[in-house]
Amino acid sequence: MRVDVVTVFPESLDSLLSVGVIGQARADGRFELHTHDLRSFTDDPHRVVDDRAYGGGPGMVMMIEPLVRAIEAVRLPTGERRVVLLSPQGRTFRQEDAGQWATLDQLVLLCGRYQGVDERIVHFIDEEISIGDYVLAGGEAAAAVIVEATARMVPGVVGQYQSVAGDSFYERRALGAPQYTRPQSFRGHDVPDVLLSGDHERIERARERWAWEKTVRNRPDLLGLRVDPSRDDG
Ligand code: ADE
Repeated sequence: MRVDVVTVFPESLDSLLSVGVIGQARADGRFELHTHDLRSFTDDPHRVVDDRAYGGGPGMVMMIEPLVRAIEAVRLPTGERRVVLLSPQGRTFRQEDAGQWATLDQLVLLCGRYQGVDERIVHFIDEEISIGDYVLAGGEAAAAVIVEATARMVPGVVGQYQSVAGDSFYERRALGAPQYTRPQSFRGHDVPDVLLSGDHERIERARERWAWEKTVRNRPDLLGLRVDPSRDDG
């Protein structure tokens, strides 16, 4: 599978996506990442990609033409392809999207910047996606999140299948179980005894219970439980 990212900061994604399992998968050719400078899709000698908003208002709006030219230039002629605009106005990205997009031949991610993108872009994309209810300075960090989450769902990218199957959110609405490693005791905090028992059934049951307890505590919304707005976690 390949991901093409169109951005005014093509260098911004490279360091994060060159390390760990994603870096290794790129080196092995199991996953391809291509970044494209949006400014190279302008005719303008000053390579301008934004302009003032019709109707007035603060800030600049990304022009549609360079974005559409970029889509037309980078999109593969055939195959399962999806073109996604990253913006805080999009539908929220979820683990299921990562799993589905990992089966595509190509995912094209367009990074918004400035006050937004000319709304007519909706006619040239498949979907508008946000990574959460907060506003970033641009879509680049969101693209890195989506590339990492999607690439690790490509078969063979994460070594043992088990390590994605046990993930939080993977095929179940619960967080992953808490994990422990050495030392057995740290500043008065001990590893739970059951993990040292060698009894695999008991260990599995304990892990399942801790995962649900943690989900109730941190993400009651995943279980369809009411979230208490007055709760102070501080
Ligand atoms: N660009 C700015 N904020 C964003 C967000 N939350 N998700 C995706 N792209 C964005």
